[in-house]
Parts: sequence; C-alpha cells; structure tokens
Amino acid sequence: MNRIDYLRISLVDRCNFRCQYCMPEGAELDYVLQQDLLTADELLTLIREVFIPLGFTRFRLTGGEPLLRPDVTEIVGAIAALAQTQDLSMTTNAFLLASKARDLYAAGLRRINISLDSLDPETFDLLTGNRGRGRWQQVWDGIQAAYEVGFDPLKLNVVVIAGVNDREILDLAALSLDRAWHVRFIEFMPIGNPDLFQTRQWIPSAQLRQQIRDRWGLVESRVRGNGPADVFQIPGAKGTLGFISQMSECFCDRCNRMRLSADGWLRPCLLNETGQIDLKTGLRQGVAGSQLRDRVGELLAIKPEINFKQRDDGTDAGRYRRTMSQIGG
Ligand code: GTP
Ligand code: 5AD
Ligand code: SF4
Repeated sequence: MNRIDYLRISLVDRCNFRCQYCMPEGAELDYVLQQDLLTADELLTLIREVFIPLGFTRFRLTGGEPLLRPDVTEIVGAIAALAQTQDLSMTTNAFLLASKARDLYAAGLRRINISLDSLDPETFDLLTGNRGRGRWQQVWDGIQAAYEVGFDPLKLNVVVIAGVNDREILDLAALSLDRAWHVRFIEFMPIGNPDLFQTRQWIPSAQLRQQIRDRWGLVESRVRGNGPADVFQIPGAKGTLGFISQMSECFCDRCNRMRLSADGWLRPCLLNETGQIDLKTGLRQGVAGSQLRDRVGELLAIKPEINFKQRDDGTDAGRYRRTMSQIGG
C-alpha cells in the first residue's frame, strides 16, 4: 500500500483570477468567512500534533491563491523550520510572485508549481476571466523572478482544453528545451465548470505526447516526482514534460496525499466527500491533539476504500459540486 505522507494545505479559498475551468466569473461560491479560516497558529498546531506524528513529511501550500494570504511568508518559514519537513512546495498562479519570490525563498520555500495555460496574452486573459490588463506579463515576470531566485524544480501547469489552448502544445513544450523548466500538461476535469466541460473537451495525454514525439522525439525521464505526473523529456532538453492524466488513467491506487481545506476540513480524496473530518472545530472546542490524531489515523487506514476510482465522461458532472479552489487544488 502507498505511504500517505503528503499534505496539501489550502491557505485561502479565494482567488484573484477566475480561470474558466476552475471558478468561472459569475459562479456563486460560498467563500469561507475570515473567522473560519485556520489561523497560522492553528495550522502549525495541526501539523505538529496531528500530521507529523502520523508520518507526514511533505507539505504543499495551495489555494485558491495562496499568495493572497497576508501571512504566507510566516507560514512558509514556520513549516520549513520543522525538523521533520522533507519537502515544502507551493502551487500559485504567480500574479503576485514577482514581488514575493525572494522573501518566500528566504523563508525556506524551495520549489514551486505555477499555472500557465497559455503563452498568448489574449487567450490567457480569456481563460483567467479578464481580471485586469497586463496580467500575462505580470505572471511571466513572476515566473522569471522565481527562476532567477533559484526555485528548483520550477514546474509550469497547463490545463489543456480543446479549442482553447491546444494549439499551443508545442510552444508550451518548447519551454522545457533551454531551461530546467518542467512543463506539465493536465487533462481537464469535469470539476469547477461542468458547463465548459460539456462544450470543450479534454484531450488524452497520449495524443499530446504523439504530437510532441512527432516534432522532437520524446523519451521517458528518469526523474519521477511525488505526484501523479508521468514524466518524459525531449532528447537533450534541460527540463522535462509531465502528463497528469486523471481522465484517461486512474491513478488513485498510487495516491499518497490528503488535503486540508482553508477552513480546516481534512479531505481524504479530491473527488469524493466521504470521510472528511472537521479538524478546525475540534481544535477550537479544545479536543486534544492526540484525539484528533487518532481520528485522522482511522481515516488514513480506510483511505484506499474512499479513493474515487470511477472515471466518467463528465455527463454527470454536476456531482462534482466543489471547485479545486475550495478543495485545495
Ligand atoms: P508535485 O508534488 O510537484 O509532483 O505536484 P503535484 O502535481 O502533486 O501538484 P500540483 O498542485 O501542481 O497539481 C497539479 C494538478 O494535478 C492539480 O491541479 C490537479 O489537476 C492534479 N492533481 C493533483 N493531485 C491530484 C489528485 O490527488 N487527484 C486528481 N484527480 N488530480 C490531482
Ligand atoms: N481540471 C484540471 N485541473 C484543474 N485545476 C483547477 N481546475 C481544474 C480542472 N477542472 C488545477 C490547475 C491549476 C490548479 C490550481 O488546479 O492545474 O493549476
Ligand atoms: Fe485561481 Fe488557480 Fe482556480 Fe485559476 S486555477 S481560478 S488561478 S485557484
């Protein structure tokens, strides 16, 4: 059985973008109220008293957009300082990264995954819901800043949507040629925006790989990450190409992660609500860390049965009621 030692921590469920596949403009989301967000102290207490004793050593900060959280640098510093932390990373849209990259690195963050769905500013604006002008350039500057500061590995996440950004596959793959940038193509899931999913299709990773193979050739990489990505490389490239294929291939059997939402719910599976635990309420009611740990331990033991192994074509997409921003990417 897989060792489950990787916790994805959502710091806030809000976002400054409105990516069409995630939290489209106009969608009514019930945001977590400020007083219901886990505080930095509560989060650290849970990590120290619940997760570390259960063997968690790898942590990822996500959102919504984690850089919207004013105390993000302090949180990074506190988790990085724990002796048991073996890996600390962040998934961000990079809109605020240019100004924060240096402080985050100094606080102990070493690797970062950045959403970049298009190299074309117009497509990017459309995809991210037209929130302000010049956003693509600001995101690009954020990526450059992270690279210059020394984040390694630096991964770029592309959700591929037919008819929207699929014509850019080769241009995006080319970002891995000259720099050690790791571009990952993600199959679009029927979560967040089921309507878009009905009209715009996901594209199987195998099809993308063929396109790239025809252009440059493609070999399996020796590097394997922590996550669900299958990793390949264009011969001679400095970076790699990852494929996250949750639609065409079920990787639940090798799932090594749990998710902590911004309001303190522990979620054992991205796509299944079964078994969630409200850790924040427990903590605020004074339940001892050891008791919360026991409850999480029981959940860990049954996680393989909870994992959402079904895959479908999205026709029943309404059942994925939450968005990635609410679950913690
Ligand atoms: P690494 O630790 O760097 O390999 O990161 P990662 O791939 O786990 O993290 P990232 O936040 O970059 O995730 C990229 C995307 O992969 C997510 O936004 C999801 O689309 C998908 N993904 C990650 N974890 C899961 C999972 O447990 N289940 C499913 N279905 N998709 C996932
Ligand atoms: N399908 C696939 N990935 C998604 N993300 C959000 N919504 C979806 C979806 N419907 C992922 C993107 C983004 C991260 C924060 O969440 O990869 O980079
Ligand atoms: Fe925000 Fe990320 Fe969702 Fe886009 S994908 S709306 S950047 S949380």
